[in-house]
Amino acid sequence: MNVATVLFGLFLFLSGFCTAYSCKGCVNVDQWSWEKIVPKFRAALVKFDVAFPYGDRHDTFTKLAEEFADNKDIIIVQVGVKDYGDKENKELAEKHGIMSKDDLPTVQLFIQNQTTPIDLPLSKNKEWSLSKLRNFVRVNTDIYVGLPGCLEKFDKLANKFIASSNKEEQMKKAELLAKNLKEKEKSSAKTYLLFMKKIIEQGAKFVEQEASRLGKILKDGKVKEQKKEELSQKINILQSFENKKDEL
Ligand SMILES: *[C@@H]1O[C@H](CO)[C@@H](O)[C@H](O)[C@H]1NC(C)=O
Repeated sequence: MNVATVLFGLFLFLSGFCTAYSCKGCVNVDQWSWEKIVPKFRAALVKFDVAFPYGDRHDTFTKLAEEFADNKDIIIVQVGVKDYGDKENKELAEKHGIMSKDDLPTVQLFIQNQTTPIDLPLSKNKEWSLSKLRNFVRVNTDIYVGLPGCLEKFDKLANKFIASSNKEEQMKKAELLAKNLKEKEKSSAKTYLLFMKKIIEQGAKFVEQEASRLGKILKDGKVKEQKKEELSQKINILQSFENKKDEL
């Protein structure tokens, strides 16, 4: 084996290693920075985990962090706990009831001005789902938890729209709201408006029919990656027109 091969192998190893525990939108907090960060936010969702986390549960948590990247009310935090060497953050973890490696990962939600955090009831389960993590935040805070592609104000209007007997009036409000949006939000707003129009024309049954139609296209393997994202965002927006209760 020559030097170049060894170096290339090392490069592959390290790059794999780095992507494994990176977490876009997460903040790594330790026992020294905890007080400077966690209490400053209306809510902090904290994952106590091993120092170099990887795997399905970590990936799910990472996806949630990405979804919340634009949300200024909540911070998504990772704490790497070591039970060897300098035992970094071990004391911090113990303070929050995480006594051994077997308790990792654990997710807790810290609400500003409240002394005790809320434990994510699913921590001990093998599988974490994005929707359960999302609902955990939604149920325990008053923070807006939108699905990808959804817009807070339009979600609220969609709720009113579905409940209202004067849907045209609600749609006019949405049209006004759509005028002053950032570029990124415009295409989402367009989708809300299109769905409103269709519901006025075809009735509430449109929601279910369209969801099943889009779902079928999405499942069809031929759809390109970017189109897939677009479709799933449309399906998310459709959900804002459903009359459903939160469930955990
Ligand atoms: C926590 O207390 C501070 C100071 O009283 C207040 O400004 C802040 O809004 C409170 N946070 C929440 C989420 O109630």
